[in-house]
Amino acid sequence: MRSSTLLATAAALASTVSAQGGSGRVTAQYTDASTGITFQSFTTPAGYRFGLVLPPATDPSKDLIIHLTSPLNSAGAGWAGIDFGRSMVGPLMLVAWPSGSTSSPVTMAPRVARGYKPSDTTPYTASAITLTPIAPGTFVNSTHLAATFVCAGCINSDSFDPATSGTGSFAYAYSLVAVATPGDANSRLSDHTSQGEGYGSFGVDLASARSADFAAYVKLAQAATTTAGGGESGPTPTAGAGPAETSAPASGSGGHGGGEEVDMEYNKMGSGAVAALALVGVWYVLQALSVV
Ligand SMILES: *[C@@H]1O[C@H](CO)[C@@H](O)[C@H](O)[C@H]1NC(C)=O
Repeated sequence: MRSSTLLATAAALASTVSAQGGSGRVTAQYTDASTGITFQSFTTPAGYRFGLVLPPATDPSKDLIIHLTSPLNSAGAGWAGIDFGRSMVGPLMLVAWPSGSTSSPVTMAPRVARGYKPSDTTPYTASAITLTPIAPGTFVNSTHLAATFVCAGCINSDSFDPATSGTGSFAYAYSLVAVATPGDANSRLSDHTSQGEGYGSFGVDLASARSADFAAYVKLAQAATTTAGGGESGPTPTAGAGPAETSAPASGSGGHGGGEEVDMEYNKMGSGAVAALALVGVWYVLQALSVV
């Protein structure tokens, strides 16, 4: 009697720990109530959540859908991050923080870390990334940040191979300290350990992250884009820096179902870049003729 009670208690404790993600540290299926999207998700007892949806195996799209929730400090500041690799330095990462804007409350930006200091994490520009929010899953409340974005171009040689069998390894971090300039998508990040915040790597069940509903989920972002507009600064909702877009025509997303709005943005950028190059060309010709 007594020993069986102890055993039952031990079993209950073990299942509680793994349900919190404390010992299992592998993603599990989770449906977000605000968007209806079913993610492969990882959570921590402190209130950080990561979610991922990948295109079906038959879809060559380089896009994915990402969700981040993380706790904020009492002033409503902090940031959430996910790194598409086992450790912080090297792979593509995405970070999100409260922007301070009501029309576009959350900034999400692609980054890469060359070292472990906040100043070592800089905007990612190696290939084209376009981030478009899914509005109902992107908000700031009095305790948390929630960010749900379509990331066009996030599956690339700096992130991960979705065909990996078994579990992939990602790493998470969040900070309870404000970024340097919240209104700027290129803001310097803050330290993510000074308040005792958790961080670390976990396993991602990549095969289970694939969803037949991927294209339908992507459309949720397009609906949000047409009503909410780009918000931050200028012609695209992209949080990354200019050079990333210039490279889009070479490495852009596949241009198939569901990616149309994003591809239109690429095309606009493409023709702008062509016009700029043409002007430069004319200037060189005039210079060669000693006209200017
Ligand atoms: C804020 O949103 C998060 C994420 O949805 C939720 O867990 C939390 O309970 C919300 N906080 C309040 C005060 O409603």
